[in-house]
Amino acid sequence: MVTVQENVSLKPFNTFRVEAYSRFFVKIDDEAELSSLFQTRYIKEPLLILGGGSNILFVKNFEGLTIQMNNKGIFCEQKDDYVLVRAAAGEKWNDLVNYCVENGFSGVENLALIPGSVGAAPVQNIGAYGVELKDVFFSCSVFEITTGNVRIFNAEDCEFDYRESIFKKKLKGNCIITSVTLKLSRSSNIRINYAAINQELQTRGINHPSIKDISSVVAHIRVNKLPDPSTIGNAGSFFKNPIISKQIFETLQSQFPAIIHYPVGEDGIKLAAGWLIESCGWKGKQIGNVATWKNQALVLVNADIATGEEIFNFSQTIIDSVYQKFGIILEREVNVIS
Ligand code: EPU
Repeated sequence: MVTVQENVSLKPFNTFRVEAYSRFFVKIDDEAELSSLFQTRYIKEPLLILGGGSNILFVKNFEGLTIQMNNKGIFCEQKDDYVLVRAAAGEKWNDLVNYCVENGFSGVENLALIPGSVGAAPVQNIGAYGVELKDVFFSCSVFEITTGNVRIFNAEDCEFDYRESIFKKKLKGNCIITSVTLKLSRSSNIRINYAAINQELQTRGINHPSIKDISSVVAHIRVNKLPDPSTIGNAGSFFKNPIISKQIFETLQSQFPAIIHYPVGEDGIKLAAGWLIESCGWKGKQIGNVATWKNQALVLVNADIATGEEIFNFSQTIIDSVYQKFGIILEREVNVIS
């Protein structure tokens, strides 16, 4: 049986630490409970699937059913030349990374210390330091709300893109990811083509890094650069890095020669949104209870007792400011509930 609660505060369930209430709320400790929930009238409500709440901004209360996935378990299946690791959606992403690193399974060490749950990882195709979830993704198990059936999605089914997947688009609110399976390597397949990682390895005098070295270096970089959500409310990068065409980029570069950029695909250029925001003078700036982080302007922080609305309005001011200076419209990366 599942217990559905009414009018539950979501403050403990979002890393921005803003106050918002959910009309209905249920915690799922076991996949089987989803079948019981499917038999109730609550499944007909608008649904919000919550993992660690680390990529969400509540601008107002949620007038539907919030489902908080809290199922646990990590299992591995050794194959001849790779290993499959399946983790329940309610596991913390970083606990899964630690499990892999401790067991010598390579592939997710660059994704150390990303806040959030395993089930949320495919939704926005989490990524950091040159690796995205899609690079190690094997499959995920999904409870379909329309039918009550469980389906397996492979990487192609998920339609992964930069911070995107089918779960944020076509299937938004229609699917509950119950577990994720990764395909990892037992031989270390180190990816260090990211300047900050190389620099820190050099500082530590490490020439032949192990998987553990990489996860430790990544954790060190993150701790120094990003605010810890357990002490200061934030949801990581608030905006996506915009991708523009080469042609538009060349015009921009002639005006702003220092603009930070990376090539993507055939004709795309990705810009560093943090640089754009900093160039507009926003780094470390605070209005009321909201600020951009002093070491990384792409991260908005709840400096004190901000409401979701204040954070949203602050983000709009930044969007307007970047648009005025660069003609680029920043897109929010966080899931805004409004
Ligand atoms: N930069 C600035 N000013 C700033 C912030 C950044 O000039 O205030 C410059 C940096 O100096 C660097 C470039 O912008 O040259 C890129 O910065 P960084 O390496 O910190 O990465 P990012 O593009 O800002 C992305 C991800 C992060 C991920 C890092 C590392 C997005 C939206 N964000 O940030 O992911 O940790 O790369 O790989 O793609 C997240 O999604 O929540 C997140 C934290």
